[in-house]
Parts: sequence; C-alpha cells; structure tokens
Amino acid sequence: MSNSEPNGATARPPLRPLTLAVPKGRILKVLAPLLEGAGISASCLLAEDRRLVRESEDGSIRFLLLKPDDVPTYVEYGSADLGVVGRDTLLERNYELYQPVDLRVGICRMVVAAPTGAASVAVPRVATKYPRIAQKYFASRGIQAEIIYVQGSVELGPVTGLSDLIVDLVETGATLRENGLEEREVICPISSLLVANRSLFKLHHQRIAPIVEGLRRAVASA
Ligand code: PRP
Repeated sequence: MSNSEPNGATARPPLRPLTLAVPKGRILKVLAPLLEGAGISASCLLAEDRRLVRESEDGSIRFLLLKPDDVPTYVEYGSADLGVVGRDTLLERNYELYQPVDLRVGICRMVVAAPTGAASVAVPRVATKYPRIAQKYFASRGIQAEIIYVQGSVELGPVTGLSDLIVDLVETGATLRENGLEEREVICPISSLLVANRSLFKLHHQRIAPIVEGLRRAVASA
C-alpha cells in the first residue's frame, strides 16, 4: 500500500485536536468567556447536557469535562495536552506539570478558621480536605497540630466537635458565617492555572504557544 496521493504528494494524517481538560461545575461560566477572549470557541462548555467530551466549533480543541481533582492526572499522563487546575490542588499534591498562565479565575483563599470567638487551643485538631497544605502551614508556624482528613463539608468539623479548627477554601465567606465560624489566618491566595503536559508542550509547541499567548492577553485585559 502506498501512502501517496494520485499527484505524488505524501498524504498527511489529519491534525488531532488539542485536548484541554477542564473542571466541571460553576467555574465553566467564567472560563468559557476567558477562552473565547483568547480566540478559542468554547460555547460548547456552557451547553447544559451530560457530554463529557466536547469539541470547539472549528474542531481544533477537544474539551474533557472532569472532576477538578482529576484534571492534573489526565494532563500528567498525556490524555490531555492542557488543563485548568486550582492552585489548591497543585499545592496539595506533587505533579510534573508546566504552569504557564495564572488564569485569575476561581479566585478564593486558603484559610484557617475557628468557631467565632473561640479561644486558641495548644495542640489544635484541624479538619481539612488539604492535609499536606495544613501540615506544612502549622509546621512552618512551629505549631503542633493534629490533622484530620475529611472530603467535604469541612465546616462541620468544629460544629460537631470533631476538630478545633479547619483549613479550607473561602470565597464569599458565607459558608463560614452561616456555620458560626470566622477566618483566623490566610494561608495563601488561590486561583486557577493553565497547566500543560511537559512532553506534549514541547511536541505541540507550535499549536500550544498561540493558546498560551492568547490566554495571557485575555487575562491581562480582563
Ligand atoms: C467550598 C469550600 C467552602 C465553600 C466556600 O466548598 O470548601 O466550603 O466552598 O465558599 P464561600 O466562602 O463562598 O461560602 P464546596 O461548595 O466546593 O463544597 P464542599 O464543602 O463539599 O467541598
């Protein structure tokens, strides 16, 4: 079998779409306009259906809709070229990923919170979805702490007596307030970043570089 077209030119395989892994959920409402601002047609991300794989109108980008914590895994293993990941996830686990753009969406902060007005405890018990971040933070302050891992509804820790403190994300502060808690310390600001698989970034650099540049410009003018 020959790989030549009738005129003698060698047939090239069609370019596969670049794959961008994105977190499912409310962040898509701010991510889609940002991608559009970078010249990527992303209206398919706003369609309210259950498709987990979607394509941009021109077919150049394939989106994977994932649980937020799974995005870096798909990018690290090369099932996606690029991804959008919260800094909280990147800080909590070690990934071998490029982080070319801070997208300045999903802005919130990682905090220590306690029941409003509660006295401090010598060796606090701390409920959190982020044991590594919490451990590192208390160690850096020279505070001995017992870290208790929970998967969500972290605010219930102090409410039920499971813990004295929590380490969690705060955006508006409503969840803390409505559960009788107050912010005590800010550990770090959090936002979402564009991440890239290191090998694929080099392999597809010609196609990825304009996306990175477009997003940098869109973030700067947002
Ligand atoms: C996040 C976070 C806080 C809340 C903060 O929880 O863990 O609980 O949002 O937002 P706010 O400051 O605007 O109230 P999420 O809604 O993701 O659910 P979870 O508790 O199950 O993690």
